[in-house]
Amino acid sequence: MRASDGLPTISEIKTPESGFSPLTWVLYGEWPPAAAARLAQRLTRWRRKPWRFGSTVIAIRHADIVELLRRDLDFLIGPVNEERIVAVNGPFVLGMDRSPVLAKERGALYSALGAVDLGAARRDLLERAATRRDKLGGSFDAIADFARPLAAETASRLFGIAPEDKALFAEVARAIFAHTFLNVSGDKTIENRALKAAVAMKHWFSNEIVRRRASGELGDDFMGQLLRQGQLDDDGVRRTLGGMFVGSIDTTVTAVAKILHVAMADAGLAAAIVARWKSGTDIYGYCLDVLRRWPHNPVVVRSAANDTTLAGQQVKAGDRVVAWTQAGMLDPGAFPDPKRTLPERPLGSYLHFGEGLHPCAGRAVNSFQIPILVAILLEAGVERTGSMKWAGPFPDRLPVRVKGARS
Ligand code: HEM
Repeated sequence: MRASDGLPTISEIKTPESGFSPLTWVLYGEWPPAAAARLAQRLTRWRRKPWRFGSTVIAIRHADIVELLRRDLDFLIGPVNEERIVAVNGPFVLGMDRSPVLAKERGALYSALGAVDLGAARRDLLERAATRRDKLGGSFDAIADFARPLAAETASRLFGIAPEDKALFAEVARAIFAHTFLNVSGDKTIENRALKAAVAMKHWFSNEIVRRRASGELGDDFMGQLLRQGQLDDDGVRRTLGGMFVGSIDTTVTAVAKILHVAMADAGLAAAIVARWKSGTDIYGYCLDVLRRWPHNPVVVRSAANDTTLAGQQVKAGDRVVAWTQAGMLDPGAFPDPKRTLPERPLGSYLHFGEGLHPCAGRAVNSFQIPILVAILLEAGVERTGSMKWAGPFPDRLPVRVKGARS
């Protein structure tokens, strides 16, 4: 991508490597949110209803969070997400409340995704991951050399665009995600990076759609299925691809990095995950339970449409209503013996991927991609050789070495 094409260069959009700002440390670090979630869970057992701080209401019990996210006519997503999503991509389901347009676009998304051969995608990833690990040798970076390029390749294969500049490809997704979902302070630099990155994303998807239409070869990937099924016009196809793409890479990488970080610090846990993997038993549940100890995102946010109550707490129109999902996944009512990490809790109890009208549309991909990326490294016997480094709120580097290997 060159400035002469009107497209950004990587230096214009790259999220710089950085230490934590106090705000991101409190929101995304390992210990502060975990300690706060445990304390909140304990206090709420006594209080038995959501908390209010000014115009913010916070649901902490698992049942209250589920109720909040299922009552999508009272607690809206549009006021939280719509403006930023529209600015970078045009309308997308994750910024829409219940409406005929949402029903149509979500229907198109899920019917196209359902037609993609995810079994083949799984086998392809397994091979790519094993090959990459074998080529990396004794010492490497679990994020920069492994999880991030592999997740970016999956996105490229699924969504149908393969720009030559792979680093730019991954940075575009990161820059847009950083502003759309994580720019809590409204930082203008982060916003400007996202708006520039959005130009590249639109360009890649629009060009590929035009190319496929002209050639008549629509493809079998997610883009191909959206085009074939004809439920959306070409702009709708582009918006749907863009929205999925943005949420696909750093989410996966963050989850994998955190699971690895936790498992590498606990030899018994790592050995149990590997033993299960080697026995051919699914380790997805294990991964999700480890992720409770350091979740991808601690909260999901909505805005109250009208005056109402939530589990005994009064809510006023316009209140920010927070589902503290990290705390909810410590609720012994839904996660008995919540401190223990167990492989076979009911998958439906986890709140990692939201709940209600907007559950994560990447769940089918996550269910194989997260376990494979985690297992391939743990199976090799990796151990941490340095601390995790961050690019803003994103885990960016995690140096590891294979135990016993010469570096
Ligand atoms: C560990 C990885 C992931 C995590 C933790 C995650 C988390 C989430 C969460 C919490 C939501 C709901 C947000 C809300 O209700 O406000 C969501 C929605 C969504 N996610 Fe994911 N996600 C992950 C991976 C992915 C992947 C790989 C894709 C695409 C392939 C994806 C695409 C989406 C989309 C399109 C939505 C919106 C669905 C809708 O509005 O109906 N996500 N995700």
